[in-house]
Amino acid sequence: MLYGEKNKEKLRSMAFGYGSKEKGSVIPKYRLNEESIDAEAAKALIENQLLDEGNSRLNMATFCQTYMEKQAVELMSETLDKNAIDKSEYPQTAELENRCVNILAHLWNAPKKSDYLGTSTVGSSEACMLAGMAMKFRWRNQAREKGMDVLTHKPNLVISAAYQICWEKFCVYWDVDLRVIPVTRKSLTLDLDHVMDYVDEYTIGIVGIQGTTYSGEYDDIKGLNALVDKYNKAHSDRPELVIHIDGACGGMFTPFTEPDLEWDFRLPNVVSISTSGHKYGLTYPGVGWVVWRDRKYLPEELIFEVSYLGGHMPTMAINFSRSASQIVGQYYNFLRFGRQGYSHIHLKTQEISSVIGDRIEHTGLFELYNHGSRMPIVCYKLKEKAKYKDGTPVVWNLYDLSDRLRMHGWQVPTYPLPDGAEEVTVQRIVCRADLTFNLAEAFVTDFRECLEDLKHAHVLCNEEKRGSYGFTHGGHSLGLIKKMVEEADTGKLFQPTESTKQLVKKAIEGASAIQDEFQELILTEKQHDLK
Ligand SMILES: Cc1ncc(COP(=O)(O)O)c(C=O)c1O
Repeated sequence: MLYGEKNKEKLRSMAFGYGSKEKGSVIPKYRLNEESIDAEAAKALIENQLLDEGNSRLNMATFCQTYMEKQAVELMSETLDKNAIDKSEYPQTAELENRCVNILAHLWNAPKKSDYLGTSTVGSSEACMLAGMAMKFRWRNQAREKGMDVLTHKPNLVISAAYQICWEKFCVYWDVDLRVIPVTRKSLTLDLDHVMDYVDEYTIGIVGIQGTTYSGEYDDIKGLNALVDKYNKAHSDRPELVIHIDGACGGMFTPFTEPDLEWDFRLPNVVSISTSGHKYGLTYPGVGWVVWRDRKYLPEELIFEVSYLGGHMPTMAINFSRSASQIVGQYYNFLRFGRQGYSHIHLKTQEISSVIGDRIEHTGLFELYNHGSRMPIVCYKLKEKAKYKDGTPVVWNLYDLSDRLRMHGWQVPTYPLPDGAEEVTVQRIVCRADLTFNLAEAFVTDFRECLEDLKHAHVLCNEEKRGSYGFTHGGHSLGLIKKMVEEADTGKLFQPTESTKQLVKKAIEGASAIQDEFQELILTEKQHDLK
């Protein structure tokens, strides 16, 4: 629930008007009205409510698709009523879903004779949950066979600190330890020099990220595969160590832009791959996919047979009912664009992001983490002691720049990097297929104008390190923060980083609205440790 009784404003509902017969009625905000209103009036009122939103085409924060062709939209509207789970009532829709899984398995180079299988999901988060569960269950079955203690000893999952929040959710929901490898100021990807230090016989798997949320860089999956090979050879007495690829962003991008890059099922230890169809799969939210390289990597306990909708239907999703229209939209894109179409679209997006990267670099004010020449994401920080070309020192920060860009309608998030480089603040521009050259030019012009404005600005609003801004995908649950603080006491593996300590301190000082929850969780016993 986004807000509830607790936050209720005094004004319980708003009257609406303009000469209609509904004039004087109230718009329900907290409880249903007694009477119905006219359908057109209802539509107009909601349209009015939605007027004051950002323009999705100018949203440089999201990876999610903000444009689909008219024909796709029509098709999707026509299929909104179909329930994706009801495969016996809608066998043709189920067939389209199967075709999508086949296409993805092929795109990800599943071995020819493999008995791969997969499913659609609501998005990458659900897909990652399923893949994580499959790893956990398989690990547990093997651990039991090897006589290991699976009851009192918690399993763990290894991932770089540039992970998306869904992995933290997975570990909290399914009682797995999240072992996080810090990133460094220089590299925001999986640290291959240290990854194996985090692995033991209780590791259910390592997650490689094909396009991190923070900067869009790729983990070195091929290098990781080699390390896992070596580990498995040396530890045949332990459960097999496997890799899942979180390809939320890159899963439907890399195959078209760098088909020779080996990050997928060509690497034998990669047992499952997930992606968001609603990112570079070019479909509106929400659709995701997960594919296992072979049936043996998806334990049977996770496949449920449901017969009450008619016929026998195996299901392995977390959700049950949902509209099939996104699956139809995904298949439309596959059918419509084909390999060449996807390549053309993604290479064009890449070209545009590289141009934006060039222009931003050319200002001389920023250091780039990602130039946009692979994943079309431009990620940069302000140079230390940055100066304009005429020598004027920069006295503003990236949050100020985000605010300025917002005045032109552009949403560009600024946020701190994850653990290991948390003192660095970056800004990220996500380029999508609907960012045309024209729009990109307009962005660059506005960007330059903002830099000029800031040079002459007298009032700057943002303190450095005020916390994350705009639409970001990372974060920590209160529970994890609590755990980190606790584990710091016992000297275990996970130490709270400076930013985590700062966050907790902030809560202690009452600077944040979540103070109450923090207090319940940690303040009583831990306050003295953090001062
Ligand atoms: C690497 C990564 N994994 C998972 C997700 C979650 O994806 P979704 O929004 O499709 O659930 C994201 C979202 O941006 C992501 O970047």
